[in-house]
Amino acid sequence: MSNWTKDSWKKFDIKHIPEYKDQDELDQALERLNTFPPLVFAGECKNLKSELAKAVEGKAFLVQGGDCAESFKEFNANNIRDTFRVLLQMSAVITSKMKVPVIKLGRIAGQFAKPRSSDTETVDGMTLNSYYGDSINGIEFTEKDRNPNPARLLHAYSQSASTLNLLRSFAQGGFANLRKVNSWNMGFVKASKEGKKYEEIANKITEYLDFMDAVGVDTQKVVDLNTVDFYTSHEGLHLPYEQALTRKDSLSNDVYCTSAHFIWIGDRTRFVNSAHVEYCRGISNPIGIKCGPSLDPDELIKIIDIINPSNEAGKISLIFRYGEENIVSYLPKLVDAINKHKKSVLWISDPMHGNTVKSSSGLKTRDFSSLLNETSKAIEILRSKGCHLGGMHLEMTGQNVTECTGGIYKLSDDDLNSRYHTHCDPRLNANQALELSFNIAEEMTK
Ligand code: PEP
Ligand code: CO
Repeated sequence: MSNWTKDSWKKFDIKHIPEYKDQDELDQALERLNTFPPLVFAGECKNLKSELAKAVEGKAFLVQGGDCAESFKEFNANNIRDTFRVLLQMSAVITSKMKVPVIKLGRIAGQFAKPRSSDTETVDGMTLNSYYGDSINGIEFTEKDRNPNPARLLHAYSQSASTLNLLRSFAQGGFANLRKVNSWNMGFVKASKEGKKYEEIANKITEYLDFMDAVGVDTQKVVDLNTVDFYTSHEGLHLPYEQALTRKDSLSNDVYCTSAHFIWIGDRTRFVNSAHVEYCRGISNPIGIKCGPSLDPDELIKIIDIINPSNEAGKISLIFRYGEENIVSYLPKLVDAINKHKKSVLWISDPMHGNTVKSSSGLKTRDFSSLLNETSKAIEILRSKGCHLGGMHLEMTGQNVTECTGGIYKLSDDDLNSRYHTHCDPRLNANQALELSFNIAEEMTK
């Protein structure tokens, strides 16, 4: 890995990393982070990479989901449990229809830093920094809150550690036991139409388990039925933070970003000569690259050559986010370039970020049908070119929010105000996320 160091990114073109007023204060916070334990273990990142390599072959499917931005305020056990639970439900639906395992990757336990289209925001004549995510500044429109505060990085680390701790307990401690498949269906989801459809699948799974027990397989002793592997991811945007958590694996001598199993490079920071691309060049984690309309396919090939020169399968996931209208003009060219250069990539649909619109009340929203349409078109395009959709990247929550319109409950613009809680982009609620999983799994098996 020639000339790469944890901080070689500093010599490249840096975008979307905030400036701090007090450099000493920032350095002190980073020094402390440097001494903190890693949040994930290298072996887990390797496992995820090999799972993703299976998805490249069509032998697994990725579900990556969680908040657009996690917040300090909405940090509590119920929110974590509900996101985890709906991801389990989505996985059960997809596996039962597609007959492949689902790789469960949360957009969680570290998704705190946001790139913004404008550095500043003006309200009633007052101009302040934009909100850059809770690890950087506060969302309240006051000078105090909007100033980047290094102490927030330590807070974000601590919240990530606690979140991950609970997720690990859920994944390994019995909550994710397939025998509980019926009990994941709770509250407002259970009463919904998706909840009823889910119940049919859950009942079938329970019947299979009963059958296996009856023929002498003790299903309680089969590890794969009692636990799940759950992985974490976030946009690796705040490079000073990521650098402080970059560690050498003592077993392999490979370098890993240990703030999450998987990090992705956002659509605004993926370009040749980008600091973010340089940072990702040196770490062994699987990496996502967001692909939006401004990405030139030739540039993407160059970026892939930088990050994955050996063309290792499972290393690169392309998370495309063109929008329902644009997907047909952009995705085919990207697929052609990847096929021409024989790059091994996992194709992931993010139908959220190209379909954001302003509602009549001025709130940002996304309509369920545009999400479904974008992904359905992507499935077709990929198929027509001998490839396949390998997963979904969703902004979603287990809560019953009203942030995206549409779905079988036909949420309208007028409904948005009732439970609009997001700190950044609008999320699917649990019912909408489940509904989308049914739809996508059906499209995939057509
Ligand atoms: C995001 O995932 O929240 C995001 C900012 O996406 P993108 O980089 O694709 O715009
Ligand atoms: Co977002």
